[in-house]
Parts: sequence; structure tokens; C-alpha cells
Amino acid sequence: MRARRIVILTGAGISAESGLGTFRDAGGVWSRYDLVDVATPEGFARDPALVHEFYNARRVSARAAQPNAAHHALARLEARGPEVTLVTQNVDDLHERAGSRRVLHMHGRLDGALCGACGHRWDAAETMAPGEACPSCAAGAGRPDVVWFGEMPYHMPEIEALLARCDIFVAIGTSGNVYPASAFVEEAAMAGAHTLELNKEPSEVARAFGETRYGPASQVVPAWVEEFLGGSRHG
Ligand code: OAD
Repeated sequence: MRARRIVILTGAGISAESGLGTFRDAGGVWSRYDLVDVATPEGFARDPALVHEFYNARRVSARAAQPNAAHHALARLEARGPEVTLVTQNVDDLHERAGSRRVLHMHGRLDGALCGACGHRWDAAETMAPGEACPSCAAGAGRPDVVWFGEMPYHMPEIEALLARCDIFVAIGTSGNVYPASAFVEEAAMAGAHTLELNKEPSEVARAFGETRYGPASQVVPAWVEEFLGGSRHG
């Protein structure tokens, strides 16, 4: 098969071996925090200090983390393979630091700040605090530029268009619990793409994939990338 367009969805599992915790594994983020408190607009309105504390800690961890072999392999694939777009649910920047260029952060980024009043965006300082003033409109409405439950993920029209015309769809390190990302495999399959799940264990939507490979991302992702680059010609 001569693949021309690959869409790769990544989730917290790809950054797990970089030391960043996942959400739903044993001891994961959602076993320690109630997501309603820290990942919804209502939670932020109720207790902005708690929400900032949560994202400040994650920002510090993300800045200290290093990309692992799985991030590096995907950057290699983009450099040497056909058209590759990463659609990540992760708010860290490990894909970019590994060298990937086409990265869509559908759940936003920890290193961004967003004005809840006017929508202006700026670079987040390492520590954000309640009432941070927007550099554009001066409202004290600064928040992390991350997508919370109940909000529309970013880049959706572009992602839908990519899914409708991809030859291969790969999901890596995501549990398949959160819509709309959990439905991407069905959309890609309907468009005729080969679908592949690379994960530590079968996800909630594993049965929807045409092919599955299980193991740590640092092993299964480089193995698949090398196999793909070695076995296909691109034109
Ligand atoms: P989850 O924590 O739900 O799932 C992580 C997946 O990665 C699980 O299927 C694990 O089995 C797998 N995994 C763990 N370690 C791995 C490793 N070393 N190698 C490969 N796979 C591994 O995280 P996500 O699916 O990313 O949203 O969660 C989706 C969204 O839910 C997040 O973006 C976040 C969260 O609530 C918001 O906050 C809006």
C-alpha cells in the first residue's frame, strides 16, 4: 500500500514514559482530582485558585519532561514519510520538542493563556493566578488555554477534513473514553482508511480498529514507524 496521508491521534499514554501521568490508569490524575473541580468552566468559576494550582503543577512537570522514543519516532515519520498530521489530546509540547511540525492540539496547550472575556491568547507564565489581566482587553479573566469538559475542542473542522481523506489512522496511548476523539477511528474507517491502535492495552474502542498492537509506546511506536518506513515507498 502506498500511503499518502496519515493521521495520528495521541493521548496521555504516549507521554507516560516521559514521566507525565495519565488520567484513567491506576493512580492517574482522575483518581486524585475530581474532573468537575479542575477541568470544567463551572469548576473554574467556583475555585479559580484550585484550577490554576492544578495546571501550574502540570506546566512545571511538562517543562521538566523530555520527549521519549515514541515522540521521536513520530517526528522521524513526519520527516521521512508521507503527509503526517498529529492530532493530540495532550496539553504538553513533547511532540514539538521531538521535532514534529504538523501538530494540532485539540485540547489546547499548557504553555498558552486565554482571556475568558475577549478570547485573546498569549504565552502563559510558568505560574498563573486568579484574576490575571489580559494584555489586550485588561479584563482579569486569564485562564489556561486548555479545553475543558463542556467546551468545543480546537481545530475540529480541519481534523474532520483530515480524517475524511486519510489512508491510515493510528491512535496511540489513548483510552477512547473522551468524545469526539474516541469517534475518530469510526470516521477514518468510514472514509476507507486502515486503522491501527498502538496502546499499552486494548482501549474502550479497540474493536473498531482493523489492526491492534499492544505494549509500551516507547517500543511499539518506534517498531511500527521503522517497519512502515522500511516497507513502503512514498511518492
Ligand atoms: P487516559 O488516561 O484516559 O488513557 C491513557 C491510555 O494510555 C490508556 O489506554 C493506557 O492504557 C495507555 N497507556 C498508559 N501508559 C502507556 C504507555 N507507556 N504506552 C502506551 N500506552 C499507555 O488518557 P487520554 O485517553 O489521553 O481531557 O484522555 C483523554 C482526555 O481525557 C484527556 O485529553 C483529558 C482527559 O480528561 C481533558 O482534560 C479535556
